[in-house]
Parts: sequence; C-alpha cells; structure tokens
Amino acid sequence: MKNPIGVFDSGYGGLTVLKELAARLPDYDYIYLGDNARAPYGNRSFETVYQYTLQSVQWLFDQGCPLVVLACNTASAKALRTIQQLDLPRIAPDHRVLGVIRPTTEVVGQYSVSGKVGVLATRGTVLSESYPIEIAKFFPDVEVFQQPCPLWVPLIENNEHDKPGADYFVKTYVDQLMARCAEIDTVVLACTHYPLLKDKIAAALPAGHTLISQGEIVAESLADYLQRHPEMESRLSKSANVRFFTTDSTEDFDSHASIFYGQNLRSNHVLLA
Ligand code: DGL
Repeated sequence: MKNPIGVFDSGYGGLTVLKELAARLPDYDYIYLGDNARAPYGNRSFETVYQYTLQSVQWLFDQGCPLVVLACNTASAKALRTIQQLDLPRIAPDHRVLGVIRPTTEVVGQYSVSGKVGVLATRGTVLSESYPIEIAKFFPDVEVFQQPCPLWVPLIENNEHDKPGADYFVKTYVDQLMARCAEIDTVVLACTHYPLLKDKIAAALPAGHTLISQGEIVAESLADYLQRHPEMESRLSKSANVRFFTTDSTEDFDSHASIFYGQNLRSNHVLLA
C-alpha cells in the first residue's frame, strides 16, 4: 500500500463518500483520516478549518498519498482553494487535492424541474456561499436556497440521529428551508454526515422531492478525473486495501464507523498537532 488515495473528513461523514469510492474504484488503496478529536468543523472559523485541513492533508501526503479527496463540505468550502492555490505549489507541486462541492454542483441542476434547489449544510458551508457561486457557473438559471443545520452533525457524531428526538431537529431545518421557497423540488445533502439522516429528511419534505447525497456523484467524478489524468492514475497503488485513522479514540471510532461505512472496521490512532 505505497501510494493510496487519501480521504479526509472532520469525523465520520467522509466514510459515506469513501464507501462509494471503494465500490466504484475497488482496485485502489485508500487511507481514511477522520479528525474526530476536533470535529465538528461546521461552526469553526475559516482560519481554524483551513489550519486543521492543511495539517490533515500534509499528514496524508506523508503517508504516501499523491491524491487527497476532502470528503467534507466544510473543509472543501473553507480550505480547498487556498490549499490548491497557495500551499500545493509550495509543499507538494505534484500532488493533488480535490473536494466534494465542485462534482456536486456540476450535476445538481439536471435534477430540478422547477429550477429551485435547496442546500442543507453546515453553517460554515452556507456562509462560504460556495454552493450558490458554483451552481451559478454550471446552471445560471437555477435559484439556490440554503439552510444551515448546525445541530445535525453533533446529533450524528453523538449517535443520536436515529433516536426519536432527532425528528424534531430534522423537521425544524427542513421546514425552514421550505419556508424560503415552496417550489424547491431538489434538495442537496451538502454535508457528508447527512446521508445518515436521509430517511428522516425525506419524510420531513413534501412528497415528490429529489434528495441528492454526494457519495456516488463524487465517486463518478473521481473515476472521470483518473481517466483524464493518467499521470496521476499510474502513481496510485492498487492492492485494494483500506486503512482508517482517527485523531480520537479508536474504540469509539470502530464502534460508530460501521453505521457510516456499512461494514465493521478497525482504526489506528494518529496525533495531529
Ligand atoms: N462532514 C462534514 C461536512 O461535509 C461535517 C462538517 C463538520 O464537521 O461540521 O461538512
């Protein structure tokens, strides 16, 4: 496992993306890093998210990853551009870092008939305006309505998302989104944690909505990227191994992660400082 694809998230959410990457591109090696000790990122400042993300990306580079996917919308919104434009040329000019926002915004307009798209995300992602800005580039006629959902990641990280109490918080934010525009017909789960709330979100939305989660979209986009970049593709090792690292307790990670990843796993601890 010399040159795996690095997959990063603030905590568990990126496992919903890794699961789809490993299903779509099973031959490659992957290293997952969850910064659980410092999650959630959603309410943190730009500078803090940037510093934490850069540290994590550097660590994944140090493990031999030539390519890192930020499987976290908050990190993609707040840190990706700076890392790509300022840090990479300095620290690792032949490495690449990709995010999850661009692949999603490239396709989202195809799903909407009304041209009104809702975005459910962390506060950080909403404040960055990344979704409206990016969607406007690909679908200038689509109108985007954003709803911050600051309590959802803490609910999920604390294993409360499938408890009855979660229904109230799901309905609160979904109702607030729909109050912004009743014609919204397509809703993006713009946080990689939210697929765990998908059934509850679908139940809280009026009937007939398209709910988009990112895993499969990001996996398809990465497959396309690797096809277009043979110089990167040929550097990646292919022994179908997946390794997991967390900055917090491995016991907690292992007992919780299977809900996101769909199978049991064993993680290792890493200290980022
Ligand atoms: N999974 C991250 C995202 O997609 C969660 C952010 C957080 O840690 O608050 O935005």
